[in-house]
Amino acid sequence: MKILVVGGGGREHAIIMKLAESKRVEKLFCAPGNGGISRYAECFDVKATDIDGIVALAKKLAVDMVVVAPDDPLVMGMVDALNAEGFMTFGPDKAAAIIEGSKVFSKDLMKKYGIPTAAYETFTDAEKAISYIKQQGKYPAVVKADGLALGKGVIIAQNEQEAIDAVRSIMEDKIFGESGSKLVVEEFLTGPEISVLSFTDGNIVVPMVSSMDHKRALDGDQGLNTGGMGTVAPNPFYTEAAAKECMENIFLPTINAMKAEGRTFKGCLYFGLMATPNGVKVIEYNCRFGDPETQVVLPLLDTDLADIFEAVYKGTLSDIDIKWKNECCSCVVMASGGYPKKYPTGLEISGLDDKGQTEGVFVYHAGTKSADGKFLTAGGRVLGVTATGENLQAALDKSYNAVKKIHFENAHFRKDIGKRALSAK
Ligand code: AMP
Ligand code: GLY
Repeated sequence: MKILVVGGGGREHAIIMKLAESKRVEKLFCAPGNGGISRYAECFDVKATDIDGIVALAKKLAVDMVVVAPDDPLVMGMVDALNAEGFMTFGPDKAAAIIEGSKVFSKDLMKKYGIPTAAYETFTDAEKAISYIKQQGKYPAVVKADGLALGKGVIIAQNEQEAIDAVRSIMEDKIFGESGSKLVVEEFLTGPEISVLSFTDGNIVVPMVSSMDHKRALDGDQGLNTGGMGTVAPNPFYTEAAAKECMENIFLPTINAMKAEGRTFKGCLYFGLMATPNGVKVIEYNCRFGDPETQVVLPLLDTDLADIFEAVYKGTLSDIDIKWKNECCSCVVMASGGYPKKYPTGLEISGLDDKGQTEGVFVYHAGTKSADGKFLTAGGRVLGVTATGENLQAALDKSYNAVKKIHFENAHFRKDIGKRALSAK
């Protein structure tokens, strides 16, 4: 098989490395890819959101499958365009990707089908939202822009003034762009967060190994929200009982609800969960693999990923026995100094070999480019330094030992990835 992967971050690097293990895969392409990915797959300078450009590239390369990894092209309907040209694809169509593309849609879906989530109201009018918040009088209050906002469309307001400011900045100042014409105000939940990515062909849902993201920029969960500063898998808060509860109350009801709505979901459905004192609840759905969750989940997969992708597309997922390694995995993200705010790019990275690797771990490249045989920083999140081990501590030791060997000016990483997970035992 010749496979084109759309996207260019650490997640796409992890998907490519797992596909590279498949005996069926003859050639891998990536668009746009990045410096690290270019050492394993042929990269093309086509934007991940350029639907016509990607369709044309898939035709030119005569690929057998296109994997669309990021949220924006999925929500825009890239899979529909590729399917119309007869390509086998991995990823939901536009009708199904709305589960991530609109928070109002996903909240209303959960309400209609009795899927546990934070209590909420939706608004298209700022004044109405504000009077609702005042009337509730409960803080923190959670204010979410309806649409995609690079994972940043959520404001946790600690008091009435912050909540009012949040509503105005989303709806009137449009700080998250048009994604803020509608918003959701919801109840603040507490408890450890759990990410569960799943494969679904619309008929059955197969959860992958669970994971835990670390979304805040600084140690101790302080600082701004980021795309994710590190991950561990499995997540110790996802007990066997929680897994059973999720399958019955969340996973199956969600795929059945999507089917009943005429929006059959095929691809990777990501459940962002919180284990609250009142049971596991959905914080958000994503219509795709998580980043950097994928970097710790796929290394533990012990089944051919190309086979799984094909079965999801064909609706035959129940024919495949998906197996996982009995190990732990950790990923420590090295980010540019300043991220998630302004940061410089083009800084030389040292400590990597010609494949962009360092001994003892696998380094997934998120924001790098290659120039004259060197690697330069090219994004906020730069590298995901990833290791497996027989337990979580062993994996983390390997990741952090490798981080010490890698340098670029003002590199920033959290020193407490996995700390909460270790304390769960
Ligand atoms: P999201 O972009 O929906 O994943 O939200 C970003 C982060 O905000 C989540 O990972 C949570 O840490 C936090 N968050 C979102 N919704 C809630 C909620 N209802 N209660 C508490 N925290 C939340
Ligand atoms: N790491 C969270 C996400 O991919 O949305």
